[in-house]
Amino acid sequence: MGGLSSVFNLLAYIAAAVFVVGFLNKVILYFKTPSPLVIPTTPAPTTTVGVIMRLIPEVLFFRSLLKGGTTEKILWVGGWLFHVSFLLIVLRHLRFFTYPVPECIMWFQEIGIWAGIVFPIALLILIVRRFTNERLAVISLFQDYFVLVLIISIGLTGLLLKYFMRANLVDVKAFILGLLTFSPVQLPDSPLFLIHFSLVLILLVYFPFSKLMHAWGILVSPTRAQLDNPREVRTVAPWAQ
Ligand code: HEM
Repeated sequence: MGGLSSVFNLLAYIAAAVFVVGFLNKVILYFKTPSPLVIPTTPAPTTTVGVIMRLIPEVLFFRSLLKGGTTEKILWVGGWLFHVSFLLIVLRHLRFFTYPVPECIMWFQEIGIWAGIVFPIALLILIVRRFTNERLAVISLFQDYFVLVLIISIGLTGLLLKYFMRANLVDVKAFILGLLTFSPVQLPDSPLFLIHFSLVLILLVYFPFSKLMHAWGILVSPTRAQLDNPREVRTVAPWAQ
């Protein structure tokens, strides 16, 4: 195996390890963080089943965003399209990660291509939204743009791979399966694939340290996930005991 292949295989393992350890670390941190005040956004459920029922439409349809004004509605359109197309793209990509490819992954091949086209459009809406709304532009930080540009670059290099500079997909699959089975093989001979893949590795490393952790945070956010039970349960902050 060539030197570059060894480097990339190693980088892929490092990125995967940083992602898994970093993500789990944040999950534990969120669990350990005290939430001594009962602050669910009312009206809020009083039972755990109720909280789950409240979270489902939030996760699937970003329901609370729909209740906002025009800015939130634009955010809803861009954000929802982005997340759904991302999910479909990932499902389509699973053909590179499985052998034999399960039948259910085949269902997503056609729609996954359409998702690949919607994906950069949704991200463009999110980027333009930050530029054009004055209030939003003021509070936007470098990292807000960084993550949007990083993800749109992954999508665009993917589209280039599909439509203009095709990689040998047999080599791509052998490379990924080699990584997954801890028997690394040669890199596919495609500089564009290397760029697409490297950008994904950067995303993996960045994820646990970024606002992308909202993927887990939404499930444990006090305003959404707490029970509305201050009449039944007395909650005393440690510093008030
Ligand atoms: C954040 C994760 C990723 C995103 C958002 C993404 C996005 C895309 C998009 C939008 C396309 C074009 C449409 C399509 O063919 O599906 C594509 C193609 C492609 N992606 Fe990715 N990708 C990601 C991760 C990966 C990974 C980890 C690999 C490694 C195997 C990969 C390999 C490829 C290849 C080889 C193509 C060309 C497919 C073809 O020619 O049919 N992508 N990607």
